Amino acid sequence: MSDPEAVATELTIGELSERSGVPASALRYYDRKGLIQSRRTTGNQRRYHRSTVRRLAFIRASQSVGVPLAQIEGVLDYLPHDVAPTRELWLRASECWGATIDGRIAELRRVRDQFTRCVGCGCLSFDQCLLVNPG
Ligand code: FES
Repeated sequence: MSDPEAVATELTIGELSERSGVPASALRYYDRKGLIQSRRTTGNQRRYHRSTVRRLAFIRASQSVGVPLAQIEGVLDYLPHDVAPTRELWLRASECWGATIDGRIAELRRVRDQFTRCVGCGCLSFDQCLLVNPG
């Protein structure tokens, strides 16, 4: 990063963790996966662009509705690391992920219905119960 103004406003991993509420261990994991990006100082410390806070908000919000990290990564690949996610990106992502979310809802309904049947049954059989032995 060569923009002195951007460098001056970079965040340490501790600052990013504090502002986003995301543990440092998760930040390092996201960094390794390429979901967020840091530069290294001469002392080998991570520094993050300020827009990373909003990028993390996008990741966490997407995860909270059950979107897998691989799909989140697929969308974020289109966004430069020094640009904050926009409302437009969120809208496009929601269009892509609608089927994923609908699939999760359908699966949860199926599990709820099976659970209701199991409560009435009570056999807890490894041979017969789909909740005990989904396979
Ligand atoms: S408890 Fe009997 S089928 Fe699940």
